[in-house]
Amino acid sequence: MTAVGIDAIEIRTGKLRLDLAETFAPAKNEDPSKYTKGIGIEYSSLPDVYEDIVTMGANAAKALFDRKGLSPDDIGRIDVATESAFDNSKPVSTYIAGCLESVYDGDFHHANKGERKFACLSGTQSIDDAYNWIRAGRNRGRAALVIATDTALYERGDPGEATQGAGAVAMLIDSEPDIVALSTEQGYGSADETDFLKPNQQFPSVDGKRSIQVYLARMREALEDYESAAGDTHPEDFAYFPFHTPYPGMVRKAALLGYRHITRDTDVEEALAAEIGMQPREADFDSREAYEEAIRTYMDDLKGTSRYQEWYDRAIDPTVDISGQVGNWYTGSVHLARLSALRAAAEEGVDLAGGHLLVGSYGSGAQAEIHAETVREGWRAAVAPIDVEDQLNGRYDLSFEEYELVHDVHNHDKEVEVEAFTQPDGEFVFTGWGRMNERR
Ligand code: CAA
Repeated sequence: MTAVGIDAIEIRTGKLRLDLAETFAPAKNEDPSKYTKGIGIEYSSLPDVYEDIVTMGANAAKALFDRKGLSPDDIGRIDVATESAFDNSKPVSTYIAGCLESVYDGDFHHANKGERKFACLSGTQSIDDAYNWIRAGRNRGRAALVIATDTALYERGDPGEATQGAGAVAMLIDSEPDIVALSTEQGYGSADETDFLKPNQQFPSVDGKRSIQVYLARMREALEDYESAAGDTHPEDFAYFPFHTPYPGMVRKAALLGYRHITRDTDVEEALAAEIGMQPREADFDSREAYEEAIRTYMDDLKGTSRYQEWYDRAIDPTVDISGQVGNWYTGSVHLARLSALRAAAEEGVDLAGGHLLVGSYGSGAQAEIHAETVREGWRAAVAPIDVEDQLNGRYDLSFEEYELVHDVHNHDKEVEVEAFTQPDGEFVFTGWGRMNERR
């Protein structure tokens, strides 16, 4: 069967950054460690006044076109995944296609364009759509462009403010891909939830504590569903476990629960039992409360074992590295987690070809999806040129007062004019809602 998956990736970060320890924490009268250690984010990326979801998506896509030497004729569909859309009719992909048509020969008149919505999950859903389109043989030799782009902003004063971020991930989905091939098996956990939503509003209404529980519940269901299709998962089956990362602290919780699940009834559990006992089984307890208390004790003990720490350091920690430098990119987040792991492997000289990733995507509202990916021979050469460090190090450092101005500029309910903090550098820039973006 022809392999189908991700052939190329480019990112575009918002060009401003907010230092959570030095700038945000003092203004909020909080201990910096709450953000850098508890939540796990050092910096949030934010868009300059001439950036938005269209410009970030188009700039990431242009970098991808230039690196791969693509023209519009090579692309048969463009799907944009976002939860920051500003147009209820025209998909964001049409705005981005317009930008690209202004700089390349040819056009996308032949291409199917769309916009996918399921909170942070829709980037993965768009990849799935592209996968199915190619597998069905409807692509006529063309590849799909998937762009996950968001400005993840919260109301000022909302606890979510510490997890903000802005950026885009552009991905080329094709047959015989260079980076990863997707598995056919998938698992889902899906339920109607109201912990995080934006009914006709720009900033989310969030019940933060509950959103954590919903994330964990849906991920557990998706893992069980995945295993019912693909067989049991074992900690050593996968080089990395890139998960949706609203903030690294969330992934720490998911990793611990996931590890408990995938070591159950395995030789790992037996080895751990010598140190911390067997996992509690519900049937052995008189009440649900007693069972849950035993689970909490087991999890605390598990977290302290060197076996768990070694697995976490190898398979999880490298996935949250970029997230800690940029904050939440919503739809792009899980795709940054994958990229973060692949770049760490490239830097350490790990031979990943033929290895596997278990990718866990999640969208509030709420749905989790889990699938496996196989790393391809060309992964290192495809990942090494992505200019992640240059982009992250090139961001402008905002003072707290400047941050508040930038937040107001991007608030659709306010009309605030502020000078840009950086200069456009031959890139697409925002010129007004519903207007064609320009390149400067
Ligand atoms: N040193 C070290 N750690 C500290 C600390 C300190 N001085 N002070 C606090 N901490 C730790 C806390 O113990 C906590 O860690 P644990 O959860 O492991 O206990 C962590 O820092 C955060 O502290 P709080 O829980 O007190 O933080 P908070 O209540 O102000 O806000 C939040 C946390 C609820 C996640 C909030 O940021 C939020 O609402 N975020 C938006 C919603 C979100 O991201 N939810 C995640 C699941 S939903 C999803 O994934 C979709 C999506 O993208 C939004």
